[in-house]
Amino acid sequence: MPDSLFRHSALVSAAVAAVGGLMGPPALADETGRTEYMYACSACHGESGLGDGPVARYMNVETPSLTTLAAAHDGVFPLLEVIQVIDGRTGVGPHGTAMPVWGDRFMASAIEDSGRYGAEIIVRGRILSIARYLESIQE
Ligand code: HEC
Repeated sequence: MPDSLFRHSALVSAAVAAVGGLMGPPALADETGRTEYMYACSACHGESGLGDGPVARYMNVETPSLTTLAAAHDGVFPLLEVIQVIDGRTGVGPHGTAMPVWGDRFMASAIEDSGRYGAEIIVRGRILSIARYLESIQE
């Protein structure tokens, strides 16, 4: 995603957070997940999660909507499965095929600062915040 687009989404998130602040405590976890999602996922899955990001058309498989994951599982958001699909390192789900393995990517960026053990915690936190964000956008 171009930087300017990312800055734009960051601005929108800030505005949403500001409005949310008027109505109650800001949902900090969701905001982190949303920012991570915009950075790592929206290019393919779209800003609203409908599978219509600008990169989706270059994929040789269809990029799925991520707003119907609960609906596809009898109304229950499949949190663990989603975490494993995003992580990619467990071999569960499709992300080893059309997608970067986010667990490895996040690990690579965290390991220099935090060492292997610390980095693993950061990776899991990032993935969980994205999964929680997805849970919050289910139809
Ligand atoms: C390069 C494009 C691309 C990016 C970036 C991307 N995805 Fe995907 N994603 C796909 C495609 C294509 C599929 C369909 C299956 C496949 O990978 O073969 C998919 C499948 C999925 C699925 C499974 C959906 C289902 O119906 O079972 C989930 C969950 C998912 N992605 C979440 C994410 C998250 C969260 C991120 C960001 C951390 C992300 N994706 C980033 C292209 C992408």
